[in-house]
Amino acid sequence: MSRKKILLANWKMNTNYNEAVTLAQEMDYERKAFAGIDTVVCPPYISLKGVGNVFAFDKSPLMLGAQDVFWEQDGAYTGFISASMLKSLAVSYCIVGHSERRHHAKEDDKTVGLKAQALLEAGITPVICVGEPPVVYEAGSTREFVSEQLSVALEQVEDPQNLVVAYEPIWAIGSGKVASPLHVQEVLSALRAVLEARFGAERAEAMRLVYGGSVMAENIHAYSEIEELDGFLVGGASLDAQKFAAIAKNMK
Ligand code: PGA
Repeated sequence: MSRKKILLANWKMNTNYNEAVTLAQEMDYERKAFAGIDTVVCPPYISLKGVGNVFAFDKSPLMLGAQDVFWEQDGAYTGFISASMLKSLAVSYCIVGHSERRHHAKEDDKTVGLKAQALLEAGITPVICVGEPPVVYEAGSTREFVSEQLSVALEQVEDPQNLVVAYEPIWAIGSGKVASPLHVQEVLSALRAVLEARFGAERAEAMRLVYGGSVMAENIHAYSEIEELDGFLVGGASLDAQKFAAIAKNMK
């Protein structure tokens, strides 16, 4: 089964509006590097429209993603943003369950699943993030831990369509430490097994699994042999268009 590679830029809470628009232009300028890869840029909410305008105006192959969503459609939910609102800005992907949201906004596996389901209903592809804290990694229990995170979230998902799962060990995010290829391979196999158990082998096989955590152009060659790996979710290195493009080039 050949799955199209995917590369996601998670700008997190970085870039003001003008900086985001400029960075989007710089990324589009590197578009050749992204040919053949589904490339998704996830700016902060306030810049979704501006970044989307850059991509639309330039007829860019880059796609727009969001970093979070709320599961209700509309109503008295001050400060929240719904999937249909994202859809109205031509958002096509949305990260859910990033460890920083699990930590700072106290999200749990069930709410992550509710968000994924709301996105799917709106026609947006969810990118469900899972990942273990250092103590779980050190205890050698990563596979059990992330399998539980994913299976509880998936209880809320009726039709997964083309959902993406991102494995991001918490200890690797922004730390400069990366997980070994063998570890990533084992964890992704476990995650694929969870998808299979929930949706059947054929559908699970079509879904994409990505790795995130201190990904840079210099360290991804080690992952090129991992059959289960379909791409990367990139934080820090996605704030520089050339560094991000270099990652895409090294994925080929
Ligand atoms: P990082 O972040 O690439 O800066 O480690 C990845 C992420 O949190 O998505």
